Amino acid sequence: MEGWAGIVLAAGNGARMKSRIPKVLHPICGKPMLRYPLDLLRGLGVGRIIIVVSPFNRAAIEAFLGDSVDYALQPEPQGTADAVNCALPLLDDACSQVLVQNGDTPLVQPDSIQLLTNRHQGQGNQMTMLTAEGLYAQDMGRVMRDDQGQIAEIVEANDFTGCAEAPAEVNAGTYCFQLTWLRRYLPDLPASPSGEKYLTALAGLGNTGAVIDGVPALDPSDAFGVNNRVQLAIAESVQRERIRERWMLAGVTIPDPGSVFIDAEVVIGQDTTILPNTMVQGESVIGEDCQIGPNSVIQDSNIGDRCRVTASVVEESQVAADVQIGPFSHLRPGASLGEGVYIGNYVEVKNSRLAPGAVSGHFSYLGDAVIGERVNIGAGTITCNYDGTDKHTTTIGDDAFIGSDTMLVAPVTVGDGATTGAGAVVTKDIPKGRLAVGVPARIVPGQ
Ligand code: UD1
Ligand code: CA
Repeated sequence: MEGWAGIVLAAGNGARMKSRIPKVLHPICGKPMLRYPLDLLRGLGVGRIIIVVSPFNRAAIEAFLGDSVDYALQPEPQGTADAVNCALPLLDDACSQVLVQNGDTPLVQPDSIQLLTNRHQGQGNQMTMLTAEGLYAQDMGRVMRDDQGQIAEIVEANDFTGCAEAPAEVNAGTYCFQLTWLRRYLPDLPASPSGEKYLTALAGLGNTGAVIDGVPALDPSDAFGVNNRVQLAIAESVQRERIRERWMLAGVTIPDPGSVFIDAEVVIGQDTTILPNTMVQGESVIGEDCQIGPNSVIQDSNIGDRCRVTASVVEESQVAADVQIGPFSHLRPGASLGEGVYIGNYVEVKNSRLAPGAVSGHFSYLGDAVIGERVNIGAGTITCNYDGTDKHTTTIGDDAFIGSDTMLVAPVTVGDGATTGAGAVVTKDIPKGRLAVGVPARIVPGQ
């Protein structure tokens, strides 16, 4: 979109959210609301993007978006027209068209914007707005058209005296403007009776000779705006359904879509199945031919091809191919499982690396451990990694065999091919190939 700039409005009070968090930073499918219009504009190739922020949310928004965009400050929330006016000085003549989007309309899709901008530029309009019909119109601006079907004005919800439930064509809060026209008419817009300056008042300027047009969104739900937490939940459910459909159409099996939550940034490989009651969150990447669920949570983790995760929780962890986890196990941040690792029932792994082929079948805690290839961890094994003050590392060499109920009191090293007897409490290093038994464990001589 050569010659276009984008302005995203985010300086409102968001009072209806009743939240200490700025409205536009509330997540929808794991992605803060403001990122939706931003990613949309970027995806369409809009080079220059300005976010209008308030003195109250500026720090939080800037901390989140950094210097990837430009910011305009609106000192007081005097309405959407005032907000756009605060951004205009930042635009130069390199752009001739401006796309303005409310920061609280996360469901707008690229196809609708393409339709909008094509109509705007194709007809040389001064203002073209995205609209929707058949949408719950109670707190939206209504598009009023004259006998010829031309837009006459937008009547805001506060000023509407008709039946609030009646179906209507509504303003989606996404607009295209010719920049010169916007510069000419925006600063002098009169305030509404409430004292706010409405951007939508520009739609009433058809009598100046301007061509003002409205284009219905391809999907009416594109127009949905978030003002309160009920609408937040509705937006989330629409988005969630879109995400699931996208993955199903890309070759992922989801037998019970309604019970599966997949965040916006997640990536899933072909022929993977996501079973019921499962959440895949954050920036997780799942490989091909996996079976995830039922009853599982994968958060900010990478899972390789052909893995199986059953009734388990995996957080901030790296899992290579052909790994099995669960049922009822928990990978906490920093777990790294090599190819073919087997984690069975009731195993907790934290900040630990298990090399390929390692096995921990039942009831274990593996924390701050480095575990070699093909190591067998017997049932009930615990790495005693915490002495009350500091955390310590347990290192277990390749092919070691850890007997059931072994306590490994860290810092401690078990050599390659070494063995511990059932119930051993290992307080000293065990050399390569040796057997240690008892409490505290002693090296069995002569082996
Ligand atoms: C607005 C539109 C309405 C439309 C609806 C679509 C106006 C006057 N009304 O109503 O026609 O149907 O969106 O969702 O534009 N903002 C600022 N500064 C301000 C006020 C608002 O930056 O002074 C930002 C808000 O942060 C928000 C956006 O503008 O992201 C829209 O403001 P909001 O108060 O939510 O407008 P609506 O009542 O939803
Ligand atoms: Ca709104």
